[in-house]
Amino acid sequence: MFVKPTWNLHRCVYFAGFLTVCAFFFYTYVIGRQTDFKAVSDLGSLLYVHAALWTGDKVRISAVKDVGEMDNLLCIFLYVAKNYTIVKAYVKDMQRYESEITVAYINCPLTSITDVNEVPLYVDLVIENALSPGHKIRLSVENRHMDPHLIFKNAAKGSKGCERELNEKRVVQFTVCIPPMFEYGNAAQLVEKLEMVRLLGAGRVVLYDTSIESNVRSVLELYTQEWAAGTGTLEVVVLSWKLPRIPMHYKGQIAAMDDCLYRYGWLSHYMVFDDLDEIMIPLRHDNWSQLIADREKARPGSPAFMFRCSVMNKDHSSPPKGFHAAALLYQSSVLSFTQRDTYIYDFSNKGKLIVNPRKMQSLEVHNIYEANGTTDVIPVEQGILYHYRWPLRPCDPEIRDTRVATKFGLRLLQRLRLIWSKLEGISKGDEILRLGESRATCKNR
Ligand SMILES: *[C@@H]1O[C@H](CO)[C@@H](O)[C@H](O)[C@H]1NC(C)=O
Ligand SMILES: *[C@@H]1O[C@H](CO)[C@@H](O)[C@H](O)[C@H]1NC(C)=O
Ligand SMILES: *[C@@H]1O[C@H](CO)[C@@H](O)[C@H](O)[C@H]1NC(C)=O
Repeated sequence: MFVKPTWNLHRCVYFAGFLTVCAFFFYTYVIGRQTDFKAVSDLGSLLYVHAALWTGDKVRISAVKDVGEMDNLLCIFLYVAKNYTIVKAYVKDMQRYESEITVAYINCPLTSITDVNEVPLYVDLVIENALSPGHKIRLSVENRHMDPHLIFKNAAKGSKGCERELNEKRVVQFTVCIPPMFEYGNAAQLVEKLEMVRLLGAGRVVLYDTSIESNVRSVLELYTQEWAAGTGTLEVVVLSWKLPRIPMHYKGQIAAMDDCLYRYGWLSHYMVFDDLDEIMIPLRHDNWSQLIADREKARPGSPAFMFRCSVMNKDHSSPPKGFHAAALLYQSSVLSFTQRDTYIYDFSNKGKLIVNPRKMQSLEVHNIYEANGTTDVIPVEQGILYHYRWPLRPCDPEIRDTRVATKFGLRLLQRLRLIWSKLEGISKGDEILRLGESRATCKNR
């Protein structure tokens, strides 16, 4: 049943060294690391594979495939200085939307390894018993230096994990994972999002770039350069996310979430998964840490915390007293929009999650997929997902909700002033906020 690889080992090792050097320069000098999908052929129902990430006891590969079970895939691991090993791959389809194509993940298990030299350099995928095996696709294994126990070690050392470390082993309380940006040019929204999550406790934000406009590129360059220079306090990571030319739900959002979970989960106590037009707001606590600490006390061990969604209607505005000019100047949603649907969506609809990456294996957009334990739904008095958007329920009853602006407005405004002073001449985007109290979507009432 084992297939015999056909490459020459010496040549392979030499080539690996060369690639590592190239990769080092590439990683150091390019924003938007290459994490793009690669087409595969002759591998059964597999169509595309994505990065291969080492997780401490397996290599995890996200993939796009035809729907259906697949139990004849093998992973061949290649090492720096020893022979190859072959293991059976475990392939699982993720949530599927309408199409016959699905995002999936491939786990290639390996017994736990402590020495980085034992972690494979490359993984090949082949079909078991295929007539002409040879390698069909080769991925270099990323995150080879990861340590799945780092967070526990830091805790044992008494480290709070928030030291400013410019190395690749920086643990943060909260990493925020944002879905792929596609034809995205709303710089005002992006700056506001980054500054709000900073106030809420984010130490790292990971963004996926499918296509962005030049103003957004300038914003991202400001944050990434300040971080690299040691003057920034929020780590902003931008990963390239070029997609195959096939229909993929929300630009492969679930695959991007999986990538973020496994790339940065080991460096995060918690991970936050929401969109650029949404913000998870704790209503009784100062920030996410305080809220989650309380929820954990009440119900220890939850793998995920769900914020229920309510829409802040963007068809009319009423900035709180004193914020009118700033709302316009910075095109700020938080400072402009205070009319919220009275309706709060049920937890099974539109809610978003903060997760504990050590207690879950995979998640979807609005719920966990594989995890130990059940999601803690945060009571709406303690927290809501504020979704700033054009109304979904026009003419439904609304309430004035100034809690976000009251709690964060002044601190947010200070940050917006500072950031935009460094972005002189950069367009805030094409979306012009409408300031006026009459509801554009509900003229008849
Ligand atoms: C790989 O394994 C084969 C068969 O066990 C052995 O003959 C060969 O010397 C090994 N090569 C290396 C580089 O360890
Ligand atoms: C969260 O709030 C607490 C209490 O105000 C504060 O001590 C802590 O520094 C805050 N954490 C972050 C990350 O802002
Ligand atoms: C979940 O529970 C199973 C069975 O009890 C256990 O084998 C596994 O390690 C747990 N996984 C996590 C991430 O805690």
